[in-house]
Amino acid sequence: MTVKELARAKLNLYLDVVARRPDGYHDLVSVMQSISLADTLTLERVGEGIVLFTTADLPTDGRNLAYRAAQAFFVALGHSFGVRITLEKNIPMQAGLGGGSADAAAVLRGLNTLAGVPFDTARLCEIAAGLGADVPFCVVGGTKLCRGVGERMEAVQNAHNPFVVVAIAGEGVSTPWAFAQLDARWGDFAECTAASASALPLLVRALSNGEEPMDKALLFNRFESVIEPQRPMVSHIKRTLVDCGALCARMSGSGPSVFGLFESEQGARNAQKALCAIGAKAFLCRFENQKAGE
Ligand code: C5P
Repeated sequence: MTVKELARAKLNLYLDVVARRPDGYHDLVSVMQSISLADTLTLERVGEGIVLFTTADLPTDGRNLAYRAAQAFFVALGHSFGVRITLEKNIPMQAGLGGGSADAAAVLRGLNTLAGVPFDTARLCEIAAGLGADVPFCVVGGTKLCRGVGERMEAVQNAHNPFVVVAIAGEGVSTPWAFAQLDARWGDFAECTAASASALPLLVRALSNGEEPMDKALLFNRFESVIEPQRPMVSHIKRTLVDCGALCARMSGSGPSVFGLFESEQGARNAQKALCAIGAKAFLCRFENQKAGE
């Protein structure tokens, strides 16, 4: 039996960090959005053990979160079976797009199918939470308001479906390093808590009524304050997107990827060309919104 799973990248339409926790992690407030840019995973039941193949230059053992997801699934199941996992990588890595988390979530969903669906979504999310902060969101996808380290999720209605250009240039950003930069810049995050409380409802309202444009004032990413000064290409990409007609442009996650939202496909295509001309990699994609009831 073979199962194919799409591991969709995520964008943070809104991302604020509101507290440093005693365990070293940080409490966030984030609106996460699945997009159509995706890795593909194929899972096949075979003899014994977990075998991971990948098209990318990535480890294929316990250093890979997709592999650890399979281990965690079998621990939760209480027994194991042989599986061959083939990972076709399209999502840029260390980019703030949640690619590793998406792969891990896809492994959990695929193994659940191969095993005859022993776990419901809530249980899969619990297993996911042990793998990384973004993995529970990647199990369900769509548009979610996430709190805690990201594991407390509420569905957000999203009537928008703009054309999205995701662009990246230069080296990846290490997430722990980016959080350490925030600690140094924002201390106890007291200022952030207040800012977050006032701005967030505007975005949630605009998403759900679908009538207000996705203005730049609605999107926010606290990491821009520490990454942009060190990575001039982030600002350059944002400017290029806006010059090409983007409604707004923001960094995703801890960067350095940047996304722009467009009303017209032509505008998005023009931006993609302009970004390639300045040496960035650019992907044209859409939001992946869940239908009501899913
Ligand atoms: O959970 P994940 O493995 O993706 O996180 C990578 C690192 O990012 C953590 O080890 C931690 O340093 C930092 N992090 C954090 N607070 C979060 C998420 C991640 O401090 N909410």
